[in-house]
Amino acid sequence: MTLTTDQTTSASPPTGAQAPTHQVALTFEDGVTRFVTCREDQTVADASYRQRINIPLDCRDGACGTCKAFCESGAYDGGTYIDDALSAAESADGYALPCCMKPQSDLVLQIAATSDTAKTAAGDFTGTIVSLERLSESTMRVGIEIGNRGDLAFLPGQYVNIAVPVTEALDADGNGTGQPLRRSYSFANGPHEERLIFMVKLTPGGAMSDYLTDRAQRGDEITFTGPHGSFFLREATRPVLLLAGGTGLAPILSMLRKMHDDNSARKVHLIYGVSTDTDLVALDEIEYFARELSGFTWDHCVSDPNSSAVNKGYVMTLIRPEHLYDGDVAIYLCGPPPMVESVRAHVADAGIEPVGFYYEKFALAVPAAAKESISIDGSDDSAVQNISSIAVAVDEDPVIPARDARGIAGQQVLAPRDIGSHVQHAAPLVDDGAIARIAGQQVWTAHGAGVALDPDGGDLLAASDARGIAGQTVFAEAETATATVAETEPVVETVPTVTEQGYEIGEEHPGIHESDALFEARAALELGALELTLGRMTSRQLAGYRLLAEATLPYVKGDSFVDAAEYTETNAAFHDYLFGLTGNDHLLAAYQALGVKGRMGEVLRNATWCHPLCAQDHIDIVEAFASGNRDRARGLISAHAERSKQTMRRAMADEMASRRPRFITPGRFAGKVVIVTGAAQGIGAHTARRIVAEGGRVVCADRSEFVNEIVSDVTDLGGQAVKSIADLETYDGAASVVATAIETYGRVDVLINNVGGAINFKPFVEFTDEQIRAEIDRSLMTTLYACRAVLPSMVAHGSGVIVNVSSAATRGIHRIPYSAAKGGINAITASLAMEYADNGIRVVATAPGGTEAPPRRVSRGTPTPQSETQQQWFDAHIEQTVSSSLLKRYGTLDEQAAAICFLASDEASYITGSVLPVAGGDQG
Ligand code: FES
Repeated sequence: MTLTTDQTTSASPPTGAQAPTHQVALTFEDGVTRFVTCREDQTVADASYRQRINIPLDCRDGACGTCKAFCESGAYDGGTYIDDALSAAESADGYALPCCMKPQSDLVLQIAATSDTAKTAAGDFTGTIVSLERLSESTMRVGIEIGNRGDLAFLPGQYVNIAVPVTEALDADGNGTGQPLRRSYSFANGPHEERLIFMVKLTPGGAMSDYLTDRAQRGDEITFTGPHGSFFLREATRPVLLLAGGTGLAPILSMLRKMHDDNSARKVHLIYGVSTDTDLVALDEIEYFARELSGFTWDHCVSDPNSSAVNKGYVMTLIRPEHLYDGDVAIYLCGPPPMVESVRAHVADAGIEPVGFYYEKFALAVPAAAKESISIDGSDDSAVQNISSIAVAVDEDPVIPARDARGIAGQQVLAPRDIGSHVQHAAPLVDDGAIARIAGQQVWTAHGAGVALDPDGGDLLAASDARGIAGQTVFAEAETATATVAETEPVVETVPTVTEQGYEIGEEHPGIHESDALFEARAALELGALELTLGRMTSRQLAGYRLLAEATLPYVKGDSFVDAAEYTETNAAFHDYLFGLTGNDHLLAAYQALGVKGRMGEVLRNATWCHPLCAQDHIDIVEAFASGNRDRARGLISAHAERSKQTMRRAMADEMASRRPRFITPGRFAGKVVIVTGAAQGIGAHTARRIVAEGGRVVCADRSEFVNEIVSDVTDLGGQAVKSIADLETYDGAASVVATAIETYGRVDVLINNVGGAINFKPFVEFTDEQIRAEIDRSLMTTLYACRAVLPSMVAHGSGVIVNVSSAATRGIHRIPYSAAKGGINAITASLAMEYADNGIRVVATAPGGTEAPPRRVSRGTPTPQSETQQQWFDAHIEQTVSSSLLKRYGTLDEQAAAICFLASDEASYITGSVLPVAGGDQG
C-alpha cells in the first residue's frame, strides 16, 4: 500500500484544497451577475479578488462596512466584525460583510456597486491639435495636448485609439452606428513629455488621412482612449536592437526619447526601413539621438530599387552578427507582419535565440493596384521575396476605410467587405479556425501569405489556431479580460498574448520554461505596470492589493512552504492584480501568457523550501505602492523576481535529487530486460530508475503519459528504457506491454507487477458492487493479466522472475476489497511459484506498508471526502497503518525499491513463493 501526502491526515475541518467549495453569485446593481467559487475556509472577498472580481473593499477587516452586501439566499458564517460596520438589525435583515463572511452553502449576494467597479478600463481623453507637420508626401506628424496630461501615464511603445473627427463607423450592414471611426496610433513622444506626438501614414481614401489633409486645423478637438498594448521598452541593461518599418518608427522614437530622458548608456542599434524615399522621415530626430545617446547607432534602408539611399533592400539585410550579441539582446520590432516574420526567420537562420523578441505587427491592406504584381499565396518565388513584395506594397496602398479599421503606427486595416476583390491569389478559405477574425478583420495565418479573407465581417471569434498569427493567440473581445493560456501546460518558447482588432503584439524568450527568463520577463512587465499605477491607485484598489498580498502569507512559514500549491495560486492572483489595475488588458494577458503560474505549479508541486522573503515581499510591495515610494517598489519587484528564481532553482534541484535512488548496486541488472508496471510515479518510478541505474533495460508501463518523463530522465542519463502506454486492467493491455518488451529487447527477464492501489477508504458496508469490482480490477486483475501475458515467453526461455507488489493491507481496515485483491496477489505468488519452478521461473512479492511519496500526478480516482465522517474513515485507515508498523513511520520509496530490486535480482536466486513484508514490522 502506498499512502501519499496529498490527503489530509488530520480530523480537523478540511482546509485549503480539501475544504468544501460553494458557488457565490455576485449580483451587481447594473444587473450583471458574476460567479465565484469560494471555499468554506475563505472569505467571499478573498475568493472574489483571487478570481479577479474586485468588489468594493476598504478595511478588509469588518470595521468600515464598505463591502456590505445583501444575501438573498444561502448559509454562511458571518465572521467577526464591529457594530459600526454591520449592525445587529442589518445582520438580521440579511446583510453581511463579504470581507468576513465564509459560505456554508451556495450564496447569492447583492453587491452595492455596478460591475464597472469590478474592472478598470483604459481612460478617455480629450485634447486639442497643436501642430500639424507634413514630414513628407506620405507622412504627417500630429501634436496633441490634453489638459489633464498628468492623468495619462503610458509606456514607451504603447498606443491610443483616436476618434477621427466628423466620421461615423458603420455596422456590418453598412448602417451608421453613431460612433466615430477609430484609428490606433502609437505615441512617438516620450512618456515624460507634455505634448503627445503621433505619426500618420497618409493614404488616399483613409479616414484619418482625409481628415488630416483636407479638414484638420490647429485647435481641433480630438478624443482618444488609452493607453493600450503590451509592446513597450522593458527596463534592462542588455543591448537592444530596434527595427522599425515605415511609420512603425513612432513607438521606436518613443523608446529612444525615454532612453534619452533616462540618460541611458545602453547599447542600442536601430534599423529603419521604408518602401520609398518619400517615406523616410524623422531622420534629423534619429541623428539627434545618435549625437546624444552614447550607445546609440543606426542605419536605414529603402526597398525601392530606384531609391537614392545607400542601402536598398529590407531591414534584415542590415542585421549584422554584432547587433545580436550571440543572443544576449532584446529585439523590438514594429512593422507589418511579413517584416516581423522575415526578421524572425533571419535571426533564427543565424542560429540566434534572442533573450527577448518583442514585436508589434500592424495589419496589412493589400492594394488593388498592386494585386496584379504580387503574390500572397507563396506559390512562386521565395517566401522572402513574396514577403518583401508585400512590404513594398503596404506603404503604397490606397487604404480603404474599414468599418472598425485600425491604423497602428499609421497603417490602416482593410475593411472586410472590401477584401473580396483581393482574394484571387489566395488559398481557398478553409474555416478551420486558422484565420482569426478580429472585429470583422481577418488577419494573417502563421503559415505566411497563403490566406484568404472572409468578407462576412462576422462576430468576434476566438481563433483555434494559437499559431494563427505568428504564435499569438487571438481572443474574442469579451474574453480579453480573462483570457489565459492553459495554465497547467508547460510554457512554450513562443509566448502567446492577447491581440486586439487588427494587430498583434507578442514576446518570445528562448527556453523560457527552463530558465530564469520567465521571472525576468514578469519583473520587466511589472516595472512597466508600476509606471502606470504608482500614485494612481484608489484606497479600494490598494485594499484589494493588500488583501491579495496577505492571502499568500499563510502558505509560507520561515523558509518552508506550508502549502506550495496554495502559495502558487495566491501568488498568481497577487501578480495578476497589478496588471489588472493598469486598465490595460494586454498587459494582464501578456503576464498570464508567460505561464508563470503553470510553471510554478509544475516545479513547486513537491517543493518544501521557499525563499523566506517571498511572501513578505508582497506585503512590502503593497506598502511601497501605498506610500508612493517608486524606488522601493522597483527595488522590491526586482528583488522578488530574484527570490522567486532562487525558490524555483532550489525546487528543481531538490526534485532532481529526489529522483536519484539512494542505493545502487552497480551492474546488478546488466543486460536484463525488466518490465515495471505502474511506472509513472511512486514505487514503480523509483524502482524503474534504480534498475536502469544498475544496468537494466526497462519497459516502463503505465496508463499515463507521465511515464514519458521517467523514460526521458533515465535515457538522458545514458540508460536504456522505453515506454508502453497501456490499460493493464485489460488482458490486451498487458499483452501489449509484453509485446513491446519483446519487440524492443527480444525477451523479458523480470516482470515487476507494481500497478494497483486502493481507490476507496470506508467501511465495507459502504462499498457498492461497482466499487468492489473497480478495486479488484485495479489491484488484482492487473497482476493476473500481466503474469498470464509474460509467462509464455519466460517459459520459452526457461528463466524469469516475477515480483508482485502486494500490500500489508491484507490485514487492515476501510479498504476491504483492496485487501482482498492483495490477498489474491499473495495467492498468485505462492501458486505460480509452485507451478513454474520447474521452468526456471521464480515468483516472489513484497508487501509494502504505508509509504511516503510525492503527491500523486495520476489520480487513483479517490473521491474527495465530502463530510467529516468520510474524512474520519480515511484518517482511520492511516492511523491503523502507522500503528501496525513497529517502527511507527511510513517507509520510503528507496526502502520499497530496495526490497523489490533484491528479490528481482540473482542475489535472491534461492527465494521463490515468498512474500516479503516491507512495512516496518507489520507482517500484513
Ligand atoms: S467591512 Fe470594511 S471592507 Fe468589509
